[in-house]
Amino acid sequence: MQIESTNGSYRESDVQALAVAVFKDEKCEEGLLQDLDSITGGAIKSVIDSEELKGKEGETVYLHLIGNTQLKAQRLLLVGVGERSEYNAARASQMAGTAVRELRGKNARSIAIAPRLEGNADEVGSAVVEGALMSVFDPDKYRTVDKEKREIEKLVVVLAGADETKLQSGAERGKIIGESVNFTRDLANEPGAYMTPTDMSERAREIATEFGLTIDVLDEARMEKEGMGSLLSVSHGSDEPAQLIILKYTPAGAAEDGNELLAFVGKGITFDSGGISLKPGDNMELMKYDMTGGATVMGAMRAIAQLKPSIPVLGVVPCAENLPSGKATKPGDVVRAMTGKTIEIINTDAEGRLILADAIAYAKKLGATTIVDMATLTGAVSIALGDVNTAVIGTDQELIDEIIAAGKEAGEKFWQLPLDPEYSKQIKSDIADIKNVGGRKAGTITAAAFLKEFADGVSWAHLDIAGTAWCEEAKPYRAKGPTGVAVRTLVRMVARAEAKSQGSDGE
Ligand code: BES
Ligand code: ZN
Ligand code: ZN
Repeated sequence: MQIESTNGSYRESDVQALAVAVFKDEKCEEGLLQDLDSITGGAIKSVIDSEELKGKEGETVYLHLIGNTQLKAQRLLLVGVGERSEYNAARASQMAGTAVRELRGKNARSIAIAPRLEGNADEVGSAVVEGALMSVFDPDKYRTVDKEKREIEKLVVVLAGADETKLQSGAERGKIIGESVNFTRDLANEPGAYMTPTDMSERAREIATEFGLTIDVLDEARMEKEGMGSLLSVSHGSDEPAQLIILKYTPAGAAEDGNELLAFVGKGITFDSGGISLKPGDNMELMKYDMTGGATVMGAMRAIAQLKPSIPVLGVVPCAENLPSGKATKPGDVVRAMTGKTIEIINTDAEGRLILADAIAYAKKLGATTIVDMATLTGAVSIALGDVNTAVIGTDQELIDEIIAAGKEAGEKFWQLPLDPEYSKQIKSDIADIKNVGGRKAGTITAAAFLKEFADGVSWAHLDIAGTAWCEEAKPYRAKGPTGVAVRTLVRMVARAEAKSQGSDGE
């Protein structure tokens, strides 16, 4: 999809179809809608007066503009965006997604989008392009019959009167972010057979080479040397060797040993059968997406490498396949993590925390001072928050607040769960230092309490994306399947950290 932007009139865009935002209960008495109404011989007013379109979010009305000579586009899509007072970049992003998905379905090849959002043109441009690109992802990669081949060739973001440089740089950033979100979704969507730990490391090598990141991949022998008994215990049952992927972005001209290092750590279980504590068969196929935390880190690093912020960022992705076999770890076994802590394995299906424990410890060894880990960690988070909010839990309130604020900018919702010390009692073991499950109560929190054991001495937050990384039903702006949640938030978090570090430098 070729991306363009203009601060000129929507009339001039040389495209087949134009999509325009319409607010709730809006009358077309001013501005763009009134202009459009006069061009279309009163069609807009007629649609609004007949209440065919009330402007509710996600509503659409589609018109062919027969006989129109003033507008280059010959087709028009009106897209409801809800209350004007609540309209923001996140909603404009969804509006763009709805418009592109809908118009692609009508075989339009070139589209102009008028989001009608005032404010920072940079932010609006990015949000619209992100939404547009994310909307064209479909999970049907391996379908060979009856497959729609429709593609959007050109997209123009129209923001009349906007600062052109800002609009354009925003649109360019949106392209990088949108494509990186889809990269993450593509990995998450792959069957376990095509996305083994080794495949994950190959994909990581590809982005490192293409976009300029340094990469190191630890094989099992090196992990052994590091004493990563917790991570290695998960891959024992599989023929696929575990991999620990380390990606690093270093800004040009950075001092060799800066003090602050932000690290993203993501769970990369390429298939989670539960191991010896085998999962029930129902929906087990979905456990191919148990590497989404890792794919999210890789997607964010892919974007960061291109956006080139002035702060370094580390990406750590432990990958393993969790299968039962004669060699598999058993409930009751005790393993020793890299930090020396001993862990009693009560349930081999609580494997995500086992690989994250050593990955977090290794991120610390590499100098991380702030760690955000993300994982499809617990089924319990879906019970608590459904597919609407991602759970955030951690030891540094400022960091948690930053994630929530970056999420708001990105249009991704995070909800904090508590981490009182009392919860840690649930993971005390009779035979070892800790055990890997904390009983039925507060499952998402006790999983975080386990991770906390390995995140001492750094600023740390954990994102449980098990409920939000996969969407069972399609939205007007997005296909069902992998959502790519958190990539956009992480990228904005880095931008905010960069702005902060520049601010403090200047003081
Ligand atoms: N990968 C699962 C969590 C999960 C469940 C992700 C559903 C996405 C959808 C994780 O490894 C797991 O099995 N967790 C167990 C933990 C339990 C044994 C303490 C769970 O949530 O049931
Ligand atoms: Zn599991
Ligand atoms: Zn898992």
